Amino acid sequence: MKKARVTQKRSPHFSLILQAIVNIFSVYHQVLLNPYFVQDLRYTITCIFIGLRIESIKRSKPLYTMLDCFLDKVKKHPDKQFIVFEGSCFTYRDVDLQSNKIARALSLDAVLEEGDTVALLMGNEPAYVFAWLALAKLGCAAALLNYNIRSKSLMQCFSCCGAKVLLTSSEEVLPSLREQSVSVFVLGQEEQEEGGARVEGVKTLSSGKIQQASDQPLDPQLRSKATIKSPTLYIYTSGTTGLPKAAVINHERMTLAASMQAIAGVTRDDVIYIYLPLYHTAGFVMGLVGAIERGNTVILRRKFSASQFWDDCRKYNVTVIQYIGEIMRYLCNTPKKDNDRQHKVRLALGNGIRADTWSEFLERFGDIRICECYGATEGNVGFVNYIGKVGAIGRENFIHRVGNPYALIQYDTEREEPVRDCRGFCVKVPKGETGLLVAKISSRAPFSGYAKSPQQTERKKLKDVFVKGDQYFNSGDLLRIDNEGFVYFMDRIGDTFRWKGENVATTEVSDNLIMVECIEEANVYGVKVPGHEGRIGMAALTLKDNMEFDSKATYEHVKTSLPSYSRPRFIRIQNSLDVTGTFKMMKVKLVNEGFNPSVIRDRLFYLEDKEGYIPMTQEIYSSITDGKLRL
Ligand SMILES: *[C@@H]1O[C@H](CO)[C@@H](O)[C@H](O)[C@H]1NC(C)=O
Repeated sequence: MKKARVTQKRSPHFSLILQAIVNIFSVYHQVLLNPYFVQDLRYTITCIFIGLRIESIKRSKPLYTMLDCFLDKVKKHPDKQFIVFEGSCFTYRDVDLQSNKIARALSLDAVLEEGDTVALLMGNEPAYVFAWLALAKLGCAAALLNYNIRSKSLMQCFSCCGAKVLLTSSEEVLPSLREQSVSVFVLGQEEQEEGGARVEGVKTLSSGKIQQASDQPLDPQLRSKATIKSPTLYIYTSGTTGLPKAAVINHERMTLAASMQAIAGVTRDDVIYIYLPLYHTAGFVMGLVGAIERGNTVILRRKFSASQFWDDCRKYNVTVIQYIGEIMRYLCNTPKKDNDRQHKVRLALGNGIRADTWSEFLERFGDIRICECYGATEGNVGFVNYIGKVGAIGRENFIHRVGNPYALIQYDTEREEPVRDCRGFCVKVPKGETGLLVAKISSRAPFSGYAKSPQQTERKKLKDVFVKGDQYFNSGDLLRIDNEGFVYFMDRIGDTFRWKGENVATTEVSDNLIMVECIEEANVYGVKVPGHEGRIGMAALTLKDNMEFDSKATYEHVKTSLPSYSRPRFIRIQNSLDVTGTFKMMKVKLVNEGFNPSVIRDRLFYLEDKEGYIPMTQEIYSSITDGKLRL
């Protein structure tokens, strides 16, 4: 009896001590077993610092925005080069003064109030940066319009962000805007002669007018009402399907996204090369605004040029480059040169590089740390591959889960919706298996959605995921997380189609096709065939310079490397593939055009089971649609 009481008393202590010992051992074990412990720790600490900084920004009054960050950098190093562009160079002070002038010239002619939105339609040039800073100084949000879009899409983009003023460097867009009550300012050109053919409703913010304006700082009172949740940017997501949507970027998101360079280890002594379009998140927020956050020098280019890329890097002592997967492949496809490794680039920041290109890139261009980042412009979840593990888009870190719970859930590609269990809830996939990434929407991980489009916003939300009433952001991406915690991109929903009861991953097929000697690029998609379930594979191809389509080699390759259900049954040869501004493939148009030779002008081929790829004829087409030829 006595004894028993003693054990009873002692046991809670004892188990606590035991627990502590087990914990210490498990931490010790993790350190020993985890070869990435130091990098994990460093990443965690960086994230904590950034989190703390954002918390303090949230409490700042008036709000400390990225504009204030820029002004601090101007104070700190006014004479440091900020933007180098086509032989001209602007210091931090130059950019500050120039944006003051534009803000003043603009406010003389346009009635702008704090909180208004102004659309920017310009190519990559320094004036883009001046204009954006000018708008920020006037307390206005900027809607970054895709410079390549015109007419209908442009009007849609323009109206969905509620802008009434457009700043542009191009006069060709004007007719489509004239009927709307939009005031258009053409930036930087010379004033036209009086009585010349002026387009009605269009004002010129000529270089003369801007230069005459005062460069005195603007009253901070003009932008004193902003809160961390006020929109500061609208960025249009690339819209591989349907019309573009404007993602709302508030100050919180902007600050967070601009920290990417810090997370990747960019320092203020780095020189960053920006050629991605400034109207997208990668170029503008992670590239340009990130550079402001670091206080470094930006080498700005109008657009990507594979032949100029490394010469630019050498000429300007570039140390950090940005990329998207396709760019890395274009670079690897350029003719080899003796000086391929002569450059100072130490870090590449971006996303979408394939494992084989990654290895080839390192082998050819030398020891460059590649930092893959995953995240959507409007999303509330992201990953960073801070280890440099080839092929992974990121690494799990407990700090992510603390910030916002996310999960990979089972997805039914046939019905194109998440799998639900008997209670109606989603099902997490076991470790190592592919699932749809969803992330909990909360005040800490908000989803600001799309401007003026509650329907589109709702469509990105998934409800009742694990408990009744919860809400998750549906990334639309199928990922896999391995035992070590590395995250792999598997597919994008919509980039998979089903044929003969099998899932076909379009990226996998196109990766295979481009291994054929004559094929330069491949865009793979599924097309409907009358009388058949699912979609059959089709590929739009471009060929290498001076090469013909080698039907035999393509057939041999496809036959040996792909299962029958994923072999493209139809091939169409194009001179160039339609890509969006960020080089994402456009599929919807191709899918709708199908494989009818009387509709499609491009050369078409049909995969005949025994003969290989033969030219597509109206006869074959008719037998397929009549059901005489079963596929
Ligand atoms: C690049 O670096 C070299 C050596 O450090 C230096 O001589 C040169 O002036 C630099 N070029 C530029 C454009 O900064």
